Amino acid sequence: MYKLISRLGVRNSLRVNKAGIASASLPAPVTEPEIRHTKIFINNEWRNSASSKTFKTINPATGAVIAEVEEGGKADVDLAVQAAHEAFKFGSPWRRMDASDRGVLLNRLADLIERDSVYLASLLTIDNGKTFSQSYAVEVPGCVKTLRYYAGFADKNHGKTIPADGDIFCYTRHEPVGVCGQIIPWNFPLMLLGWKIGPALALGNVVVIKPAEQTPLTTLYVAELCKEAGFPPGVVNVVPGFGPSAGGAIVDNPLVDKVSFTGSTEVGLHILRNSSSSNLKRVTLELGGKSPNIILKDVDMKFAVESSHQGLFFNQGQVCCAGSRSFVDASIYDEFVEKSAARADRRIVGNPFDPRTEQGPQIDESQLNKILELVESGKKEGAKLVAGGSRIGSSGYYMQPTVFADVKDEMRIAKEEIFGPVQQILKFKDMDELIERANATPYGLAASIFTKDIESALYLIQGIRAGTVWVNCSNVLKSQTPFGGYKMSGFGRECGEYALQSYTEVKTVTIRSPMKSS
Ligand code: NAI
Ligand code: MG
Repeated sequence: MYKLISRLGVRNSLRVNKAGIASASLPAPVTEPEIRHTKIFINNEWRNSASSKTFKTINPATGAVIAEVEEGGKADVDLAVQAAHEAFKFGSPWRRMDASDRGVLLNRLADLIERDSVYLASLLTIDNGKTFSQSYAVEVPGCVKTLRYYAGFADKNHGKTIPADGDIFCYTRHEPVGVCGQIIPWNFPLMLLGWKIGPALALGNVVVIKPAEQTPLTTLYVAELCKEAGFPPGVVNVVPGFGPSAGGAIVDNPLVDKVSFTGSTEVGLHILRNSSSSNLKRVTLELGGKSPNIILKDVDMKFAVESSHQGLFFNQGQVCCAGSRSFVDASIYDEFVEKSAARADRRIVGNPFDPRTEQGPQIDESQLNKILELVESGKKEGAKLVAGGSRIGSSGYYMQPTVFADVKDEMRIAKEEIFGPVQQILKFKDMDELIERANATPYGLAASIFTKDIESALYLIQGIRAGTVWVNCSNVLKSQTPFGGYKMSGFGRECGEYALQSYTEVKTVTIRSPMKSS
């Protein structure tokens, strides 16, 4: 059976060692962090919502209310956009700031996040339910490193001189896009905040951020750190609230020049449609996935089972690029299924502050119910449940680590994003059939391949239509490496040098330049 731990036993200096996660020495968390910011952040000031409404943010480990947060709506978003628009005006302190100084501010923000890393990681764990070890060792550094990476780019996003035909001197200026609306989901609130504001601010844009309604607290705290770092008023604004109201108001506002969104494909489509009906905003979308995780017959079985387990169950399975379709060579299929089920049964589920815990609760009841409904559909459609399958207890939103074998391509669990701790294992016999099946999905976010055979790996890398292919690893996301989707997993890239493009407008400057004076 799965292991459930509920005791609050927090030890110092535990080494976390999971595939793809760097070991880290863990400090003691703050298990009841003081909630310092719950209001709307505009022009470096904290305000109540225009409607006087608030909403509750919940601790998913217990279901208890952590805090009441001001609920931003259209009036608040419009105010935040106006503040950002002013901060971006030609000649404003932000526009006149040396590019290198924007880099200094981003590095200072990174320093402040590091200073408060135990507090921020603890806040993230109570607001999201993810383990403190992950909050501290993955998310905080994921945010900090991205801010530092882009801080270095602040004065390096330069244009070109172009040897154009005729007596002209032609060069390009790389300029900021302007007001960027940034809509963030709840699964990686802090890391994705870094992915969004890092490139935007480095290049001189201004931002209006809407954190997910499930996880507003870390974004609000970082807003205060932006002020402390010295960002001028209006450069960073945060409006907590719900998707259709606060998020929708960002998308509809004609003073917003660009929207960057991470979340469901359904909402991504809606945002793309509405952005074009207001003012043709630039849009980048990072959406869902149903990523293949391919196991060839030559693998080291223990390594492949553990890596596939981590590739799916990491972050409670709430990962857009989770390896949620494991295609396993028929000759090793039965052994892989048996060992994967045994590994899932051993997974330690429980209090996210306990350093032994591998899996915390799901984000909320509605996500848990969505997962349970898909598990039922898997059973009904004839997949073989070999581990888990049920909710754990009734306090908090815990789910048993679940594994399905004998999954067929046409089943819902093989087609839909489950976004939970549910692993699907499928059988394949031949490489070309495998490529067809791996690509037979509207998504194209990522893929993992496990093999020691370099030629097979190179063949699959070319055949698979996805924005990222990992070989003998999974969920490796770095500040330096671009990440984004093919097909309905979205467009545009985050991280790496490629992300700079979507926060840059290119201005072509052409100057008459006669060869002799006339
Ligand atoms: P969602 O796409 O509704 O939420 C993501 C963000 O978009 C949140 O900040 C939300 O407030 C905002 N939003 C929602 N509706 C909006 C609208 N009409 N206009 C502007 N912003 C809007 O995702 P949700 O409901 O939290 O989860 C549903 C499913 O989406 C999950 O089960 C999962 O399959 C997928 N998902 C994928 C994520 C990813 O990393 N690609 C992250 C979160 C969810
Ligand atoms: Mg919450």
